[in-house]
Amino acid sequence: MLKGKHIILGISGGIAAYKSAALLRLFVKAGAEVQVVMTPNAKQFITPVTMSALSGKPVVSEFFTANTGEWHSHVDLGLWADAMVIAPATASTIAKMANGVADNMLITTYLSAKSPVFVAPAMDLDMMRHPSTVRNISMLRSYGNHIIEPAEGELASHLVGKGRMEEPENIVKALDDFFRASKSLAGKKILVTAGPTYEKIDPVRFIGNYSSGKMGYAIADHAAARGAEVTLVSGPVAIVPENPAVKVVSVESAREMLEACGKYFPSSDIAIMTAAVADYAPAETYDHKIKREKDGLDQISLVKNPDIIASLGEHKRDGQILIGFALETDDEFNNAVDKLHRKNLDIIVLNSLRNPGAGFRTDTNQVSICFRDGSRKDYPLKSKSEVADDILDVIESKYAANN
Ligand code: PMT
Repeated sequence: MLKGKHIILGISGGIAAYKSAALLRLFVKAGAEVQVVMTPNAKQFITPVTMSALSGKPVVSEFFTANTGEWHSHVDLGLWADAMVIAPATASTIAKMANGVADNMLITTYLSAKSPVFVAPAMDLDMMRHPSTVRNISMLRSYGNHIIEPAEGELASHLVGKGRMEEPENIVKALDDFFRASKSLAGKKILVTAGPTYEKIDPVRFIGNYSSGKMGYAIADHAAARGAEVTLVSGPVAIVPENPAVKVVSVESAREMLEACGKYFPSSDIAIMTAAVADYAPAETYDHKIKREKDGLDQISLVKNPDIIASLGEHKRDGQILIGFALETDDEFNNAVDKLHRKNLDIIVLNSLRNPGAGFRTDTNQVSICFRDGSRKDYPLKSKSEVADDILDVIESKYAANN
C-alpha cells in the first residue's frame, strides 16, 4: 500500500532516533518516496548524511540554507505528503505540536500538513507518565493525529516501562493498514450536506442558525480519504474541505439545498445529512433593505420549508443508505427515533445540546447512533474528526450487511 506514497519522516532529538534509519529503509523498500525533516537536536543522535543517503534526498532541517539563501517551504512539503510520520516524537516535540509552537522546520511542516499524521512517542518512563505529556498526546488525538503507542520494555535509561518507540516494522504496518483501510469506500458515491441554510428576509437580513459546517465537513473529508467520491452540498460556512477530492456545491437556502440534493441523490450510494436546515422561511422576500420607520415591519410571516431528507426518504431506492442527524434539547431518544421512522432513514445520529461540547460550532461532538431495530451505540465526547470516523465505520458495516 505504500508504493508511490509521499511520506515525510520527522525525526526529533531522542535516543530512539537511531531506529529512524531502519524505519526510513523500510519505507523506501516498500516503494515510498520519503522526505526526512530533522529537528536540530535530532542531528546530535543520527547524522543527516545517513538519512539523505538512505532517502536519496537532502535532509531538511533549517528554514534557510545559509550559503545559498534558499528557503525551505514547509507549506509545499505539507501539501506534497500523503502521510507524515514523526518517529521518534519526544516529549518536547509533542508539546510543541499540541500547542503550535512553530520554532523549527519539523513543527512548521506538521502545522502545514494536509495529510494524516502518525506520531510515535519515545521518551523515558516518567516523562511519558507526566500529566503534561498525557494531556499533550490526548490533544494530538483530538486533532485527528494517529498515535502509535510506545512499547513497554527496557528503556535507554535502564528503567523498565512504557516509552520505547514502537519497532520500525510495526510503524510501517500501521501506515500500511491505514492506507489499506482508507480505500474501504472506493467506488462509493456519497452525498453529504453541511452547514446552515439562510432564508432571506431582505438583502441584509436572513433567518439562519449556528451551524458551522464542521461536523459535515469532517464526514466529507474522511469519506473522501476512504476513497469515496464525495459531493458536499453546503450552506454558507467559513470553512473549506481539507481533502481536495471533495466536490463542494454551495447553496444558501433550504430550497436550493433541496434542488442540489435532488440532483445528486439518485446516483448516490449513501447520503449523510448533517445540515441544520431552517424549518421556516419568510413568506415574502424584500428586494430592498427594510426601513425601520418607513415599512413599520413588526411581524414576519413564515412558510414551512421542504423537509429535504424526508423527500429523499420517499424516493430512496433499494440498497441506498440514508443517514440523518437529530439535534435535540429534550426527550432526545424518542425524538430521534421518531424522525428515523417518519423520514424513512436507515440510521439517525443523535447529538444533544444538553451535552457540553456537543452540537453547533465546537470541534467536538458526543453522539448516539440509532438504528431502525431500536438498538443504538452511545459514544463519549470526541473530536468531530473522530466522530466522522465512527459514523463511517458503522455505515461501512451496515453497507456490507445490506449489499
Ligand atoms: O455544523 P456544526 O457547527 O459542526 O454543527 C453540527 C450540527 C449540530 C449541525 C449537526 O451535528 C446536526 O445535528 N445536524 C442536524 C441538525 C438538524 O437540523 O437536526 P433536525 O433534528 O432539525 O433535523 C433532522 C434531520 O432532518 C437532519 O438530518 C436534517 O439535515 C434534516 N432536515 C431537517 C429539516 C429540513 N427542513 N430538512 C431536512 O433535511
